[in-house]
Amino acid sequence: MTTHAAPLRRRPYWTRAAAVLQEWIREPAQVASLVPSAPALTQRVAKQPGVSNATKIVDLGPGTGGTTEALLAAAAENCRVLAIEKAAGFIEPLNEIVDGRLTVEHADVVGLERILLIHQMTSPDVIVSGIPFSSLDRRVATDIIKSVHRTLPKGGTFIAYQLRSDVARYASPLFGTPQTEIVWMNVPPLRIFTWTKQ
Ligand SMILES: C[S@@+](CC[C@H](N)C(=O)[O-])C[C@H]1O[C@@H](n2cnc3c(N)ncnc32)[C@H](O)[C@@H]1O
Repeated sequence: MTTHAAPLRRRPYWTRAAAVLQEWIREPAQVASLVPSAPALTQRVAKQPGVSNATKIVDLGPGTGGTTEALLAAAAENCRVLAIEKAAGFIEPLNEIVDGRLTVEHADVVGLERILLIHQMTSPDVIVSGIPFSSLDRRVATDIIKSVHRTLPKGGTFIAYQLRSDVARYASPLFGTPQTEIVWMNVPPLRIFTWTKQ
């Protein structure tokens, strides 16, 4: 399986960090992080099972696109990646990623299933999420997890990178026990939860 080298990076880390800080000031609970994830984290996310042989990957809450780029670098040439981001300030940096496999959608993931239909991305192999489940209203978090579960086919992978473990409280009743690992080389250190739909 041929994978791509990292796509052309369009703006330096510190410019992306400034965009994150600006959006965090506007919507702290939604953005939930003061700086973009470090390469140590985004590369670990992209090494999770299912990514390298996926043909459809959905990236929920890509921010300025660090996870998106790592996923594109790890994914196959025929893999399509759909990045769904709610914050308007992140759409320009996302659109600067030069890769024909990527589609950027400015939307709330609450409408996940409709968005996947529009982009012909139903039954993705992998869904990755940086959305801060611990700051979400319980009903909204439950609805998002249920739509992630409905959308993934059997054998599909759900990967969430989070500061707190609330995502497991919502996802484990549907997906079972996750594989977890902590990435210390990130500010702050985050835990990656990985589930395979049975
Ligand atoms: C912790 S940041 C992760 C950003 C990026 N993936 C990274 O690792 O640097 C969470 C991201 O999820 C986005 N987000 C939060 N709630 C969302 C929602 N309901 N729909 C779409 N994006 C959302 C935020 O705007 C933010 O970009």
